[in-house]
Amino acid sequence: MEQKVSENILIELRGLTKRYGYGDTESFALKDFDLTIKRGEFIMIMGPSGCGKTTLLNIIGLLDRATRGEYILNGENVAGISARRQARLRAKKIGFIFQNFNLIQDLPILENVALPLVYTGYGKTHRLKQASNTLKRFHLQEREYYLPYQLSGGQQQRVAIARAIVGNPEIILADEPTGNLDSRSSHAVMEELKSIHGEGNTIIMVTHNPALTVYATRVINMLDGQIDTDVKTVSDANLPQPISVKIKKKHKDNFETLIDTQPQKHRKHKKSRRRH
Ligand SMILES: Nc1ncnc2c1ncn2[C@@H]1O[C@H](COP(=O)(O)OP(=O)(O)OP(=O)(O)O)[C@@H](O)[C@H]1O
Ligand SMILES: [Mg+2]
Repeated sequence: MEQKVSENILIELRGLTKRYGYGDTESFALKDFDLTIKRGEFIMIMGPSGCGKTTLLNIIGLLDRATRGEYILNGENVAGISARRQARLRAKKIGFIFQNFNLIQDLPILENVALPLVYTGYGKTHRLKQASNTLKRFHLQEREYYLPYQLSGGQQQRVAIARAIVGNPEIILADEPTGNLDSRSSHAVMEELKSIHGEGNTIIMVTHNPALTVYATRVINMLDGQIDTDVKTVSDANLPQPISVKIKKKHKDNFETLIDTQPQKHRKHKKSRRRH
């Protein structure tokens, strides 16, 4: 039983500390920060400006390193690994969404979305096809040769979400993804994140907007580099399962239904008649 629980742990942070400066100028963006994150959680991180939210996200996303402490990702302590390995892990396991979209302005959105796939080893045609399929999900496929400035803010953020999920990462990190959007576009972006979460993905999102916490399974309030409050609104047992498990179950059901249905028999009959 205990092993099952630990299998479900995606991230463990222990005593994570980020210090800036020395002596008189010393300050701590994170202070002895402990956090355990399970697969399938949708965590929202809130707190006043400067309390360490972006620092935390950047360390989890392997864009930054802690001054000390442990970061265990899938059972491996990744705090001290080489920058090269960090980059590879980041490309494989982590998708980022930023407040200002961070799209490359002179690349069509299709190529923006395909960028994280460079590390997969697939050829360019395959990468662009995968990117195009992902854009389809966001109803942006017909605009795939547009440049970012030709899209609205909400559309650009949906492109950024497509880029974040194109490589099927285990973790999606979002730093105020709706911060630059009007309420209608914010809603569209949140609905996309909700559906990505429903597929069993783990999302960690920073927001200043308390109204968005309805989408979260857990809300963490930070203060001065530490956790102030940590509230789970969905129990661990009710977190969504990874989609691969769901597909298996669905296939099984479909299979049983198909065998028993009349149309299947008709099809067989027609086929055999055609052959004669
Ligand atoms: N490169 C740096 N050098 C020195 N101090 C830094 C640096 N980066 C961040 N800090 C400090 O670390 C603290 C946490 O910053 P962080 O960006 O994580 O805050 P935040 O919670 O994301 O704030 P906001 O809500 O404004 O985005 C701040 O006090 C900030 O000044
Ligand atoms: Mg920030």
